[in-house]
Amino acid sequence: MTDAAPVVTIDGPSGSGKGTISRAVAQRAGWHLLDSGALYRLVAHAGIRQGLDPGDIEGHARLASRMHVVFGVGPDGSEQVMLDGQGVTQAIRTETAGQGASRVAAWPAVRTALLQRQRAFARPPGLVADGRDMGTVVFPGARLKIYLTASPGERALRRYKQLNDKGSGVSLSALSREITERDARDSTRAVAPLIPAPDAEVIDSTGLSIEEVVGRVLELGARRSLWPPRA
Ligand code: C5P
Repeated sequence: MTDAAPVVTIDGPSGSGKGTISRAVAQRAGWHLLDSGALYRLVAHAGIRQGLDPGDIEGHARLASRMHVVFGVGPDGSEQVMLDGQGVTQAIRTETAGQGASRVAAWPAVRTALLQRQRAFARPPGLVADGRDMGTVVFPGARLKIYLTASPGERALRRYKQLNDKGSGVSLSALSREITERDARDSTRAVAPLIPAPDAEVIDSTGLSIEEVVGRVLELGARRSLWPPRA
């Protein structure tokens, strides 16, 4: 599993900057990227599209094993996500989709159905895996585990900017409330709760720039000989 290729895991709560940092580290290292949150968002989205009862655990687990997903890059370099042949890039990024993802993510059957799919992303030269349980459950043998966090206020503000850049008119107070709810559900669920792996390096990104956080991760990876030291 993890022997196939070296893995760096980046876990943390919503708005901690995991997505941005993971993408930047993968790009700089020339490694593959797994956005595991997108898979949970896709399961919730596919369930709505197929008219599944929101409480239908088996139906969602079936979708998790069978849905056909393609992560690609558009002509302008932006991320493109296809679900069963249809573009869903924007649809899965809303906070409503995030809430739906957090609901289906609490079901063990859905998590189990996604396990092998996630592990299959580990291919040479290496994988940067972004999520909540990458270092604890999916890639316990990862060569470097990062737990990225930031103060709740800063996380809500980052998500607010991110969503409003995409034209969604969400309010900061509603978003703070939703993020707090989602964090509580993700941290207290019985299976694969959001907690740092015991061997994770914890980085608090409050007040740090993207470049500073990327620099720290690259330095930690270089110390473990995952890639050459930066020039
Ligand atoms: O990271 P993102 O916000 O896209 O994740 C959406 C939701 O998917 C999270 O709130 C969490 O409930 C779930 N998730 C998870 N395990 C992961 C990644 C995401 O449970 N590895």
